[in-house]
Amino acid sequence: MTQRIIGIMGALPEEITGVIELLKDKEEYRIGKRTYYKGTINDQQVVVVYSRIGKVAASATVSTLILKFNITELIFTGVAGGISNHLKIGDIVIGSELVQHDMDAYPLFPTFEIPLIGKSHFKSANDLIQQANESIQHIFDQNYLHHVISSDDLEQFHIHQPSLHIGLIASGDQFFRDQTQKDHLLELLPETLCVEMEGAAVAQVCYEFGIPFVIIRTISDEADQHSTIDFTRFTEKISNIYSIEIIKHIIK
Ligand code: ADE
Repeated sequence: MTQRIIGIMGALPEEITGVIELLKDKEEYRIGKRTYYKGTINDQQVVVVYSRIGKVAASATVSTLILKFNITELIFTGVAGGISNHLKIGDIVIGSELVQHDMDAYPLFPTFEIPLIGKSHFKSANDLIQQANESIQHIFDQNYLHHVISSDDLEQFHIHQPSLHIGLIASGDQFFRDQTQKDHLLELLPETLCVEMEGAAVAQVCYEFGIPFVIIRTISDEADQHSTIDFTRFTEKISNIYSIEIIKHIIK
C-alpha cells in the first residue's frame, strides 16, 4: 500500500508558520525559492509549505509537492474575502467546488471553462470534506477559539459564534476591495461564498494529477472597501491560530 503523505499548503507565512511549528522530526528542503518542511503531525507524515500569493505561485508549489514529495492528498488552509451576505469575519468555508473567476477564453470556450480540459468547476474530495466538516464543527462546538485567541482580539473582529459553510469558492489573481467587484462576481457566479487567489489553481493541478484535495478558508474580510485593513489585521493576529486548530483536528 502507498504511504499516506499529506501536503499542507497556505499562501502566506501568516497562514502556515504555526502549522510548521507543530512538526516533529522536521526536515527542510529549498526548491524553486520555496521552503518545504517535511515531518509528522500526530504521527502522520506531512509536507508543509507556503506558496506566496496567486494562481501561478500556488500551481508551481502544489506541482512540487506532488512530483518531488509524492503527496497522496492535499489540504489548503488560508483566508478569504466573504462574498455571500451570510458570511462573517471568522467564519470558515470548506470549498466543495472551486472555480477560476478570471478564466475567460470566450468565445473559443465558455467563460470560466479551463480550455482543453472541458471543466470549469473542480470538486474537493468527499471524504476530506467530511473530515474537515467534523473537525471544524468540533472546534466551534467546543469553543476552542476562545481558549486560543484573546477576548480582545475576538471582540475586535466581532467573532462571537463563528459558523461553518460548505460551497463554491472563486479564485483569481485579484484582491477584492470594493462593492463593484463583488456585485460583478455575484452576477456571474451567484453561488460564490468567498474569494481568494489560489484555491481553484491548486484544485486544477490536483485534478490533473488525480490527487484528492480540500480547500479550507477562514473569512478575513468582506471583500469590500474595508478589505485591505481587515485582511492585514486578521492575518497579523488570527489566521495562524485558525490554521493550527484546523490542521491539528483534521490530522488525527
Ligand atoms: N483573500 C482574503 N481576502 C481577499 C480578498 N478580499 N480578495 C481576494 N483574496 C482574498
